[in-house]
Amino acid sequence: KRHILSLETFTAEEYETLLETADSFREVLSRRTKKVPALQAQVVANLFFEPSTRTRSSFELAAKRLSADTLNFAGSSSSLTKGETILDTAKTYVAMGANILVIRHRQAGVPHTIAAEMDRLEGNVSVFNAGDGQHEHPSQALLDLFTLYQLLSPSSPHQFLQGKKIAIVGDILHSRVARSNLYSLTTMGATVHLAAPPTLLPREFQEFLGEKLVCHWQVEPALTDADFIMTLRLQKERMSEHLLPSLREYHQQFGITRDRVLLAHPHVKILHPGPVNRGVEISSDLMDDPELSLISQQVTSGVAVRMALLYLIGTSD
Ligand code: CP
Repeated sequence: KRHILSLETFTAEEYETLLETADSFREVLSRRTKKVPALQAQVVANLFFEPSTRTRSSFELAAKRLSADTLNFAGSSSSLTKGETILDTAKTYVAMGANILVIRHRQAGVPHTIAAEMDRLEGNVSVFNAGDGQHEHPSQALLDLFTLYQLLSPSSPHQFLQGKKIAIVGDILHSRVARSNLYSLTTMGATVHLAAPPTLLPREFQEFLGEKLVCHWQVEPALTDADFIMTLRLQKERMSEHLLPSLREYHQQFGITRDRVLLAHPHVKILHPGPVNRGVEISSDLMDDPELSLISQQVTSGVAVRMALLYLIGTSD
């Protein structure tokens, strides 16, 4: 692969390679020096046209741990404000020597457009999708997968989620994280149960992946006997007013609370990609419960997983 734009075509073998590579970088990160010379003289440009805390910082840290140079860009303080286009911005960074572009944009397809232009120019530049609109967020789904892999510690990554029930609850409609996770979790063997109000869970999702995917318009059947609960943020910034539910009502009907967690498997764990609306999609005390919440581990996993992605793409011919 030259680019990481979507998980739609990822194979089980590719997930397995990614998990094993991330595991070796997790070991590197546990050492005192934490750094390897794998991407020396390579330049990673983080082009974030939409806000980010975790993704941007962990791509930057991952690149630095691999000894690459990093360039950071924020739309509001850039020449975009003077009318420069996104493509010209990307080409400007390539002209400075960037050979890996990490791109986030509020419109679906922007990283794909930039990747196509880079291929046309034959400059050997790789593009990573760091979240495009409501479409996909591949590195988030991969770090979620790695978090589960580490927790379950299987002897092999092959189909390591076989037999597991994973509930994804929340604003599915606007969630690029949910889309990417549907590909990765089902390919690795899990059955995914989606739950949201009808306005946030379109019926076509049921046809998305056949029998590995079940849709619910109430939360309880999704949570019953679930091994993992992934809760998603209500993306108010992507909702028109008529779609936005009352936050109190949403919490009452779909919020992950201690009472509702009792429906799940006794060893259930909770994931959330962040950022969290505390007390809306999840009660504040659950979020901070170290016995139940994997939220901090997800953030930690992000560095090793992004090192693995940068390494695998940056060292391929
Ligand atoms: N999960 C995620 O993408 O978080 P950020 O928006 O902070 O990068």
